Amino acid sequence: MAPIVIRSHFLGSVFGLTGENKRNRARRALPRRATADELTPADWRDADEQAIEELKAAGSVQPREKEYFRKDGGRVPVLIARALFEWKPDEGVAFVLDLTERKRADYLARQVFERSPDRISIVGRDYRYQRVNPAVERRWGMSAETIVGMHVADLLGMEVFEQTAKAYLDRCFAGEEVSYAEWFTLSHGRSYLAVTHSPLRPDSERVEAALLIIRDLSEHVLASEALREAEAELAHVTRVTTLGELTASIAHEVNQPLATVVTFGDACLRWLDREVPRIDKARSAVEQMIGSARHASDVIERIRALSKKRAFENVRLDINQVIDDVIAPIRREINNQSISLRLDLGASLPPVDGDRIQLQQVIMNLLMNGIQAMSAVTDRHRELRIRSREHGSDQILVAVEDSGIGIEPEHAARLFNAFFTTKLDGMGMGLSICRSIIEAHGGQLWATANVPHGATFQFTLPLNADSVS
Ligand SMILES: Nc1ncnc2c1ncn2[C@@H]1O[C@H](COP(=O)(O)OP(=O)(O)OP(=O)(O)O)[C@@H](O)[C@H]1O
Ligand SMILES: [Mg+2]
Repeated sequence: MAPIVIRSHFLGSVFGLTGENKRNRARRALPRRATADELTPADWRDADEQAIEELKAAGSVQPREKEYFRKDGGRVPVLIARALFEWKPDEGVAFVLDLTERKRADYLARQVFERSPDRISIVGRDYRYQRVNPAVERRWGMSAETIVGMHVADLLGMEVFEQTAKAYLDRCFAGEEVSYAEWFTLSHGRSYLAVTHSPLRPDSERVEAALLIIRDLSEHVLASEALREAEAELAHVTRVTTLGELTASIAHEVNQPLATVVTFGDACLRWLDREVPRIDKARSAVEQMIGSARHASDVIERIRALSKKRAFENVRLDINQVIDDVIAPIRREINNQSISLRLDLGASLPPVDGDRIQLQQVIMNLLMNGIQAMSAVTDRHRELRIRSREHGSDQILVAVEDSGIGIEPEHAARLFNAFFTTKLDGMGMGLSICRSIIEAHGGQLWATANVPHGATFQFTLPLNADSVS
């Protein structure tokens, strides 16, 4: 049979079966002066010959895809439809459509579908999956063949389907583009999912299916929540450490004892101004003044210690002596609050090495916290107990126990964070300072809940190296 000559701009061409080798007018894609046979790659020839047989028999063939060679040796995919002229059955017309762009678009669409980390699926009006991409297969650990045909409720569970998924799908089937993002609890745990539903109308007005794209943003959302928390904490730090704030808290802490000094000073003068001065009363007022003034200076010392870097003084210490040093200044506070103090100090404990003032600060902070934890307790005995004893062969343990409000489980992890406080006027620095001091001494500080009430804060310190047997 004579070769078919293509006279084509690629959008419709006349071909002849006569053998006259007409000028090939294909512009870009096709080599000049080529016959259809030369243009057709070998692997398409059989199909082509079959098409021509059908064409000769029936006078026309349905459009079908094939490929031609390009000038550069590459291939061009086409859609070709052919028919013979009834009045001249050895000539006919062919319509050739260049599919390059379409194939490229198909390829890209397929790539997006296959490669996307997002889960893409198509769900029909019967709520059954029609197509799913590999991300969906990975998510559910099932092959696409298994999932296709399944009902959405089979994957998500009836509850999630009825409470959330169905309503969104129905809106989409009604023609709406729907998107939302929220936390979902599915069989494998909680995920924050951003979901879009797009209506698909392949060839009718009616929406035939929904295109679902699901992006898992759990990690992103968790990270940004953590960031927000960190920012809030930082904002708090900045706020607390601004000069004004610090001044306010110093003023607050120091004002109280100073007011007491003035009150007792006035009282003292009145006792002395009497016709017969009451020396005993004046003396006790002066004692009160001294106590309050000492308290004020303790507060200032504590704040100064925060802002000033004192050199660490490492000396040999009797821990019971350090505890005694601390109790003296707070005895009054303990009595005022009707707290019974129990000392349970180990006899002849071996010495530890450390910084006296820093360890005093630790014990003082723990005692103050214990006292504060009991201030709201009215229906039971307020009891503060300090224990010291040897711990293992090379450590000393000091524990401060109270019968206060105890530790809320949700606070437990944050007690030692700087600026964590549940008190209106707290700075939240006490425990974080304590922990850093104890750790600098080579020990550990931790908290436990007491049964039935209260909390115990205890720390260890390594014994002085010479005392370890
Ligand atoms: N003995 C305790 N019983 C119950 N809760 C406690 C106890 N000690 C500490 N806490 C909790 O830990 C938080 C942090 O304590 P921390 O000593 O660090 O700060 P603060 O006492 O609030 O303020 P400050 O900086 O004045 O010490 C307290 O606000 C309180 O909620
Ligand atoms: Mg405190």
